[in-house]
Amino acid sequence: MTTGCVILAGGEGKRMKSERPKVLCEVLKKPMLGWVLDAAEEFGFDEIGVITGFKCELTEEYLQTRSGNITTYYQKKQLGTGDAVKQAMELVKGVDCVCVLNGDAPFINAETLRRSFEFHKSSGEDVTVITAEIDDPTGYGRIIRENGEFTAIREHKDCSPEEAKICEVNSGAYWFNAKALAAALPRLTSNNANGEFYLTDCVELIGRAGAFTSDDPDIVLGANTRKALFELNEKARERVFERLMNDGVDFIVKDGIIIGPDVKIGCDTLVLPNTVILGKTTIGKNCEIGANSHIEDCVIGDNVKLDNVKAVESTVEDNVKIGPFAQLRPGTVIRRGVKIGDFVEIKNSDIGENTSVAHLTYLGDSDVGRGVNFGCGCVTANYDGVNKFRTEIGSNAFIGCNTNLIAPVKVGENATTGAGSTITKEVPPNSLAVERSQTRIIENWQKNFKRKKK
Ligand code: UD1
Ligand code: CA
Repeated sequence: MTTGCVILAGGEGKRMKSERPKVLCEVLKKPMLGWVLDAAEEFGFDEIGVITGFKCELTEEYLQTRSGNITTYYQKKQLGTGDAVKQAMELVKGVDCVCVLNGDAPFINAETLRRSFEFHKSSGEDVTVITAEIDDPTGYGRIIRENGEFTAIREHKDCSPEEAKICEVNSGAYWFNAKALAAALPRLTSNNANGEFYLTDCVELIGRAGAFTSDDPDIVLGANTRKALFELNEKARERVFERLMNDGVDFIVKDGIIIGPDVKIGCDTLVLPNTVILGKTTIGKNCEIGANSHIEDCVIGDNVKLDNVKAVESTVEDNVKIGPFAQLRPGTVIRRGVKIGDFVEIKNSDIGENTSVAHLTYLGDSDVGRGVNFGCGCVTANYDGVNKFRTEIGSNAFIGCNTNLIAPVKVGENATTGAGSTITKEVPPNSLAVERSQTRIIENWQKNFKRKKK
């Protein structure tokens, strides 16, 4: 049986008051659409389609950043969820079974999709709606049952006062027999409080309908407003804390700590306040991360200490100490045992094992060997205003305080640069390069100076 998934992402989301499509609003810094796509990709559909509409170019741009094979269908006017699915008729007609998902309900997951699909197949119904019981059903479509039998979904605005009390709601996720869906979509009308073509009316049109009630009520939660989005963020944040604590990660307090849903952290690692860890970051065991650190898309080894560090798209191997107040910019690799101190910035560079960059230094586009020592205030001048060049420093070199290395330039193994030197030529191994004038001593200078002034 072939399966297709249609994700609804065309709506403007007026209530969100955003200039971007609502589905790009983020939960833990990841667009809601991304959460839904992750669930769909993990389930393993044969086809995935996304309905775009409002500011579709922004949705397309986001989809470009993902690796999966996704087809987009453009909905010119946002005439409702039923009209949205109609745009993907080509996909619907190409598979046996269609799953429709709301792009603004990020907590749907592959496990729920698997279980509801099994239920759908075994029930033999033409449509299965994934539902859940929630405390406050305001805004959601209610599940209408007659003598316990599921018969219809009633949108909030169309509910009678009695129906409005029902707490079992539509998650916006459904399984359809593709043929039944293709036949029902053209029959939808917009005869309702919103004047929209509701996908939910397919339930009555198709008739043969079942409800799969999820035991995880969070899967229905969607965000139509900033307040709802904030609540999703809080829930998602708590879920991440719980998962990480189960994995043996330590927190003294949760204050100001934001960790993305895809972050992995090893046991005995302590995360300190005001630390934000995002993207596909992985952190090893027994580390101390924070306080006040921002780590994004990094691979961090074991026994690493990051104190007031910002690091993006970088790799840090085991037993490294960085900070306080240091920055690793994209493309940086810090090898085992390195020490990086305060006010150091490193960009697109490879820093060899046990090297020390202790204070006030900028290394950009550099390849540094093992055991190198940088004095205070060293700078690689990697940019001449037009092009960028690399600096190469051999193992066990000693770069004196305030050395400027004008790239492209090489410093050989065991070489030394004198403090204050501006190095423009290759420094051979084991040599000393000094570039500064002799100190002149003018005796009694201060006295003379004062006399002249009078
Ligand atoms: C919808 C369901 C409701 C359910 C709730 C769960 C309908 C009629 N109602 O309501 O029963 O409880 O989801 O969250 O389906 N979209 C389009 N094109 C459109 C309109 C919407 O692509 O013309 C997309 C939106 O971007 C959104 C999704 O469809 O991702 C759902 O639309 P939304 O307006 O948020 O529906 P709800 O009112 O939340
Ligand atoms: Ca919604």
